[in-house]
Amino acid sequence: MTFALAVHSSKGGTGKTCIAVNLAGAYALEGKNVCLLDIDIRGPSLFSIFKPEALFWVNDMLSGKRGIKDTIHDVSEEFGTKGKFFIGCSNPDISEIREIVRKDRNWQSSALKNLISAKKELDKKNIDILIFDTSPGVEYESINAVAASDMVLIVHNSSIACNSCTEQIIGGIYTPLKKHCVIIDNMCHDNTLQPSEEKRFGIDVIARIPCMCDVATRNDEILTLTERDHIFSQNIYSIKDRIERHRL
Ligand SMILES: Nc1ncnc2c1ncn2[C@@H]1O[C@H](COP(=O)(O)OP(=O)(O)OP(=O)(O)O)[C@@H](O)[C@H]1O
Ligand SMILES: [Mg+2]
Repeated sequence: MTFALAVHSSKGGTGKTCIAVNLAGAYALEGKNVCLLDIDIRGPSLFSIFKPEALFWVNDMLSGKRGIKDTIHDVSEEFGTKGKFFIGCSNPDISEIREIVRKDRNWQSSALKNLISAKKELDKKNIDILIFDTSPGVEYESINAVAASDMVLIVHNSSIACNSCTEQIIGGIYTPLKKHCVIIDNMCHDNTLQPSEEKRFGIDVIARIPCMCDVATRNDEILTLTERDHIFSQNIYSIKDRIERHRL
């Protein structure tokens, strides 16, 4: 069965996209078939990283205008991954973003159905891991991605005072949806605690990634694919292994 992972956070800029992209790369490198979807339809990022010749977008899939097969692009050859690596981008066009953020509750509930159908279709395509890169906070489409996922990777940043927001989102969203969650503390300045022994908000912290200027300046690269020995890549490989252990 396709395992879906929502990469989410209470606040913006905690490193969700960076972690989602590198994690997808790490899985594909290892030989897993991966699909990475940009569910951050308000602030799309994957388009500028992958620059696909997109005809159809995740927006079209969520709207029910197109199936998932029309919306994803195979980038495995470009990145030389052992497993299949598919991406689906959200439309960066400003008028499209304006239109989609005005959608009502009915549209959002049919978008959730379309997302769940997409997951089933990807399962038929033998996709092992489906990763959702989401908007921060309680936007509808992010909650949909959380609802459609099997596990939530909470990207937390202790340095930007998101403790109370993360606590709120755990109590208000992940717990009522009975989601299995793990936390990554990203951009840490203090790397002394051992993640395996640490819990925050009652949830396992599976990694503490240091803040590295080098990561911030290399946004267009997938370090897990281009520089496997980089400390950030090493952190992502170990996150992948910990996620696998948590799935069992
Ligand atoms: N460990 C790290 N050290 C230094 N910079 C990092 C680290 N992780 C991520 N970054 C950088 O932080 C910036 C924000 O990351 P990113 O865009 O992934 O955040 P985000 O949570 O997806 O933001 P948004 O909520 O706006 O979607 C990027 O420039 C990224 O390269
Ligand atoms: Mg992002």
